[in-house]
Amino acid sequence: MISHLYILFFFFVTIRASSYLHPVIKCPEEDSIRKCLDQYHIKGPVNFRNNTVAYNKDLNFEYNLRVIHFPVAFVHPIDVFDVQNAIKCAVKLNFPIVARSGGHSYEGYGLGDKDCSLVVDLETLNKIIIDIASQTAIVETGNKLESLYYETNRHGFAFPAGVCPYVGVGGHITGGGVGHLNRIFGLSSDNVLDAQIVLANGTIINSAKKYPELFWAIRGAGNAGYGIITTLTLRIYPIQKIATRVALLYDFDQTPLVISVMNQLGGNLHRNLTVLIRISSDAPTTVEGIYLGSANESQPYLQEFIKLSKPKSITYFENDLYSILTEGKESTKTPGFYKVKSFFIDSTGLSYEGIKYFMSFTKSIKCAVNNHVMLLNGGKVNDIRRNETAFIHRDN
Ligand SMILES: Cc1cc2nc3c(=O)[nH]c(=O)nc-3n(C[C@H](O)[C@H](O)[C@H](O)COP(=O)(O)OP(=O)(O)OC[C@H]3O[C@@H](n4cnc5c(N)ncnc54)[C@H](O)[C@@H]3O)c2cc1C
Ligand SMILES: *[C@@H]1O[C@H](CO)[C@@H](O)[C@H](O)[C@H]1NC(C)=O
Ligand SMILES: *[C@@H]1O[C@H](CO)[C@@H](O)[C@H](O)[C@H]1NC(C)=O
Ligand SMILES: *[C@@H]1O[C@H](CO)[C@@H](O)[C@H](O)[C@H]1NC(C)=O
Ligand SMILES: *[C@@H]1O[C@H](CO)[C@@H](O)[C@H](O)[C@H]1NC(C)=O
Ligand SMILES: *[C@@H]1O[C@H](CO)[C@@H](O)[C@H](O)[C@H]1NC(C)=O
Repeated sequence: MISHLYILFFFFVTIRASSYLHPVIKCPEEDSIRKCLDQYHIKGPVNFRNNTVAYNKDLNFEYNLRVIHFPVAFVHPIDVFDVQNAIKCAVKLNFPIVARSGGHSYEGYGLGDKDCSLVVDLETLNKIIIDIASQTAIVETGNKLESLYYETNRHGFAFPAGVCPYVGVGGHITGGGVGHLNRIFGLSSDNVLDAQIVLANGTIINSAKKYPELFWAIRGAGNAGYGIITTLTLRIYPIQKIATRVALLYDFDQTPLVISVMNQLGGNLHRNLTVLIRISSDAPTTVEGIYLGSANESQPYLQEFIKLSKPKSITYFENDLYSILTEGKESTKTPGFYKVKSFFIDSTGLSYEGIKYFMSFTKSIKCAVNNHVMLLNGGKVNDIRRNETAFIHRDN
């Protein structure tokens, strides 16, 4: 079994002050969709373009302002029947319809891929129920990961999901969900046990696992348009109260050493230890580890990495897992103009030439911010067969 997997995110930002958000005139058939939504008695707010303040607030919910499309309207369902009725109208009138959960698609997919889509914004569907006995969570898809981290932690559990706590549950967990804790617990989508989903024909499926092909698809490609997922039933894991964050700092020029040590040791690091490398041309290279256990308990699993990679400084912080996952992370959104690419790297790791190229590329990029994040993955992710779910990036 190939033992590890890197994921590399390239992250570029430019931020411009701008008041460019002004949709063109009405969409074709706008009056018909307005009438239909009315006839179907959608209970939650529906914001059309002429409702300027509410509509612009909905648009600005997007994290990335580089790719903006102007929907015909934003529907804010208060329950699954509102979602169902929105779908029925859209289908009847041939409007493209799209779900939006956290608005954290870097390519604006939560607004559809063109103007005049009908957006079903799930933000108000935000209940979370933790069932300690069965070690499951029932989570509505309008939640952010932050709420899921909070509720699971409060009950003594963890759920493996993204590094950014303000990503939406709906797009993230159904599409894979790469982050801390994948090596010990698998991807987010590996831990989906069931789902409620509204299909394009308007049928509410209360238990997606009774439809094996649908259930296969929504674990890895659930954000690709098989329907609008309203709740997810998730496997959650009991953990110790204390977790540890360790930060190892390096000079930028030590980056090739750090990566080669990771190539060498990554596959055998203890699964309770998660490792993320941050590389930026204008900040120290950082290896950030999260360990499920105390700082003392983490020692045996870190020693060799520290010995070989020679960090300039080492800091340990002990806290509960929620605090560790959310501290220092932006609590309000920072909308801007972003471009992000991600790659999977196979178990041989980055070659020496690859590292050299990567370093000079990093130095050459001219942008307000540019960041590279490498996450050591694998472990449980690679224990699951590639054909078991729609998430195909395993054994890398
Ligand atoms: C700052 C930032 C950090 C990130 N960090 C990570 C990370 O650490 N790990 C990682 O794996 N990814 C990360 N991502 C990527 C992120 O997981 C995906 O973009 C994800 O799809 C976002 O989900 P969302 O609900 O917030 O997005 P949205 O823009 O609301 O939706 C994204 C896509 O999912 C679809 N969708 C949303 N909700 C539903 C639903 N309920 N039913 C069906 N389809 C739905 C939308 O139609 C759209 O196509 C990050 C993104 C950002 C902006
Ligand atoms: C928007 O337009 C519709 C139909 O043309 C009208 O009924 C509604 O009152 C308008 N709303 C606002 C806020 O102007
Ligand atoms: C919608 O599709 C599902 C899955 O194929 C099917 O079970 C259901 O009966 C369909 N509903 C309608 C109203 O056709
Ligand atoms: C790993 O984490 C689990 C869950 O918190 C815990 O039960 C176990 O004791 C940990 N193992 C080590 C070696 O720290
Ligand atoms: C950690 O280990 C050191 C040395 O073994 C010991 O002095 C210290 O009390 C331990 N800390 C905790 C919180 O157990
Ligand atoms: C998945 O692949 C394995 C072998 O690689 C095979 O034994 C198994 O039947 C496959 N499962 C499905 C659902 O196709």
